[in-house]
Amino acid sequence: RSHWKVAVMPGDGIGPEVMEVTVRALRALVDDGGPELELVEYGWPSHAWHREHGRMMPEDWREQLAGHDAILLGALGDPGPLHDPNRYLLSDGVSLQPLLALRKGFDQWACERPAVLLDGAPQYIRDDRARDVDMLVIRENSEGEYVGQGGRLRPGTPDEVATQMEVFTRRGAERIFRHAFERAVIRAAEREAGRRRQREFPSPDGGTARAQVCLITKRNALQYWGDMYTETFAAVAADYPAIATHHELVDAACMKFVTSPWAFDVVVASNLQGDILTDLAAVLCGGMGVAPSCNLNPSDRHQPPMFEPTHGSAPDIAGKNIAGPTAMLLTAAMMLDWMGEEDARARKAAARLREAVEADLRAHGGSRRSTTDVADAVIAGLG
Ligand code: IPM
Ligand code: MN
Repeated sequence: RSHWKVAVMPGDGIGPEVMEVTVRALRALVDDGGPELELVEYGWPSHAWHREHGRMMPEDWREQLAGHDAILLGALGDPGPLHDPNRYLLSDGVSLQPLLALRKGFDQWACERPAVLLDGAPQYIRDDRARDVDMLVIRENSEGEYVGQGGRLRPGTPDEVATQMEVFTRRGAERIFRHAFERAVIRAAEREAGRRRQREFPSPDGGTARAQVCLITKRNALQYWGDMYTETFAAVAADYPAIATHHELVDAACMKFVTSPWAFDVVVASNLQGDILTDLAAVLCGGMGVAPSCNLNPSDRHQPPMFEPTHGSAPDIAGKNIAGPTAMLLTAAMMLDWMGEEDARARKAAARLREAVEADLRAHGGSRRSTTDVADAVIAGLG
C-alpha cells in the first residue's frame, strides 16, 4: 500500500487539542515528501456527539470505519454522572465502553505500549540506571478480564452479589506470546545493528541473549489461567531459543518496574494486568504525557489498527491549551511505523517525527509550555 486512509477521531477533553496539532504535524510531513495520507475526521465516538445524537457512535460505526486503513484516536471520556447509561454502547449484546467496542470490533487483539525514557523527559526513578528504561509492554487485548460477562444479582440490596467473569483461551494466549517473541526478535536485531540501547540477558542455552520476553501472571492465586499461560508461554518460547525468558507475578513485577525497570525488555501481560502495568510503565518514562500506544491485529493487516495515546481525556485541563501533545505525536509516529512496514515514505516520516519530538524534549523537556508551543517546535524541527 502507498495510499493510506486514516479515520481521525479527536474524541473528548484534551483529545481534540492534541489531535489538532498532530494532524498539523502529519500534514507537514505529507507536504514534504511523506506518505500519502487521506485524513478523514469523525466527531465520534465522543460525548459531544452523544449529547447531540443520544449515543456515542452511530449504529453503523463498524461499517463506516471498515473502509479505513487505520484509526487515530485522541482520548475518550467525560466526567458525567457515574451511572450515565450512555457511557456504554451495546454491541453484540455485550455492554462495552466505546474504546473497548472499537478494539473488539476490529479484533485488535494485541496492544503495544512501548516505554522508553527519552532524554529530557522527567525521570521519576532516581537511580541513574533508570535512564536506560526501554521496554515494550504487550497487552492481550481481546479477552481475559475484559470479556464483559457477568452481572449483578439483587442490585442495590444488602445481599447484592456482582460477578465478573474472566475468560482466557489457549489460542488467545498462543498468539499474543508468539507476537511478543516476534517483537523480541526484531529488538534483538536492532541491538545487533546498534539501533537500540544494548541489553544482555541470560539465554536458555547458557549464553547471553540480546532480548527477553517476560511473562506476567498471578499464578499463585489465579491458578487456572496462570497455569495455562505458563505452559503455553513455554511451548512458544521453545521456538525462540535465542530469546531469553522470564516470569514475574504481577505484584512483584510492579515492585520491580519501580526498583529495577532497566531489567525489563518485552513484557507480555493479560488485558487488565497489562492495563495497570502500562500506566506504571508510562510513569517510568516521564508520565502519561509521553506514552504512546496502539491496538492491532497482527494476523490480519486489513483490520484497521487503532493508535491512541495511553492517557485519557484529562477533563480538568481541557480547553486551556496546556495539555502536552507529545504522547499523541509519538502515537502518530507509531502509526507511521506500522505503515512503514509497507511504505518507505511512511518509514522515513516516522523517523523524522520521532526525531523532532526527541529533539524538542531534549531542548525543553520538563518546562511548562502550551500545547501549540510544543507542536510548533516539533513541526519546525521536522527539518
Ligand atoms: C486504556 C484505558 C481503557 C482500558 C479504559 C478507558 C477502558 O484505561 O486504554 O488503558 O482499560 O483499556
Ligand atoms: Mn489504562
